Amino acid sequence: MSEPLLRVEHLCQYFGPNKAVDDVSFEIQKGEVFGLVGESGCGKTTTGRSIIKLYDITSGSIYFKGKRIAAGTKSYKDRIREARKECREASPERRSELEAEIAKLREEIRSARRDHEQCDKLYKDELVKEVREKYAPLLENAQGEEEKRIRQEYDEALRIAKKQRYITQIQMIFQDPIASLDPRMTVMDTIAEGLVIRGEKDREVLEKKVYDILEKVGLVREHANRYPHEFSGGQRQRIGVARAVVMEPELIIADEPVSALDVSIQAQVINLLNELRHEFGLTFLFIAHDLSVVKYFSDRIGVMYYGHLVELASSDELFAHPLHPYTQSLLSAIPLPDPLMEKKRKRLKYDPLAAHNYGSEQPEMREVAPGHFVRCSREEFERYRQQLGLQSPEDEKQ
Ligand SMILES: Nc1ncnc2c1ncn2[C@@H]1O[C@H](COP(=O)(O)OP(=O)(O)O)[C@@H](O)[C@H]1O
Ligand SMILES: [Mg+2]
Repeated sequence: MSEPLLRVEHLCQYFGPNKAVDDVSFEIQKGEVFGLVGESGCGKTTTGRSIIKLYDITSGSIYFKGKRIAAGTKSYKDRIREARKECREASPERRSELEAEIAKLREEIRSARRDHEQCDKLYKDELVKEVREKYAPLLENAQGEEEKRIRQEYDEALRIAKKQRYITQIQMIFQDPIASLDPRMTVMDTIAEGLVIRGEKDREVLEKKVYDILEKVGLVREHANRYPHEFSGGQRQRIGVARAVVMEPELIIADEPVSALDVSIQAQVINLLNELRHEFGLTFLFIAHDLSVVKYFSDRIGVMYYGHLVELASSDELFAHPLHPYTQSLLSAIPLPDPLMEKKRKRLKYDPLAAHNYGSEQPEMREVAPGHFVRCSREEFERYRQQLGLQSPEDEKQ
């Protein structure tokens, strides 16, 4: 497997005692649409906002194109505290083991802080270095007018390089197109804003990019001089999509992009995202609170419940063999197109206390079938494997 575009490892984002996101791990391959689903308040938005670094995450790491862009330190600090405690009563050998571990954890903390705080700066330095290396031999060999021209080009490339931020390769589309658009800014300025911040000064270039993207999202160039309030909800969300896509991002986090829209408009916006995905080779983290929205758009789906991922599988597998009772309850909430079937549809309620008997064992993510993960106990794992007609590992040994 090649390095995924995005890798989220043991992400925790706590707000005081509220563990909004608690030990969530998943990957997104380039070109993939990964759906993240769960009821309101389960931590979907917090996951998205953590990825674009709107928070200093509590623990875990987030890698984008192999580079760590966000990292938290709480898990390391907790482990140091435990090790210190154990030290007090440990034998001399054990103590030196623990001290070595503590030294290593301290190094982890330093490296997490550096990556988290400096990922943009390190990226900028890299780009500046590339520009310098490219232009040094050119400048050395040039003279007179040519040298002057190259030097101008070099200064401009350097200026642009210094404005780049690694994280702008990830863009977000927000749930509420009204709240996320500045009412005092024209559509032109709204869409061009990110490009301007990234160093683009040429008005003609900016206008061309904005006109082009307006057409791509199903609006027209005449819309550029209008203000957000002059548009319908669906059109506003198209502006939100244009603002993200014009940055040519590699990953788009779409946080319930159609939840605020009329049902009749929802499909249009989903279709638009689907078209743009193919045209620009985009990768999506697509957040929704119900499964019906993500079903046709997602390659893989992660189901979240109270800060945890409880099931992760390909879209087809999840709909064919939902294993976690919470996933089953989400599925049972989808209305069926056939009126007779719809009449018979039973909504399953998920009650964690009745559904699981965890006792002292904490459930964890286990791979029940290839690529199909469920948060479960050992006993549930065996049962789920039987349900799928798979042998348990113990059987295979005999
Ligand atoms: N900035 C914040 N400060 C404190 N608590 C927050 C903040 N953002 C979200 N929360 C809490 O974190 C939990 C998850 O919220 P959120 O990620 O918005 O859920 P979702 O997007 O799935 O509806 C909720 O309990 C919410 O109240
Ligand atoms: Mg949300």
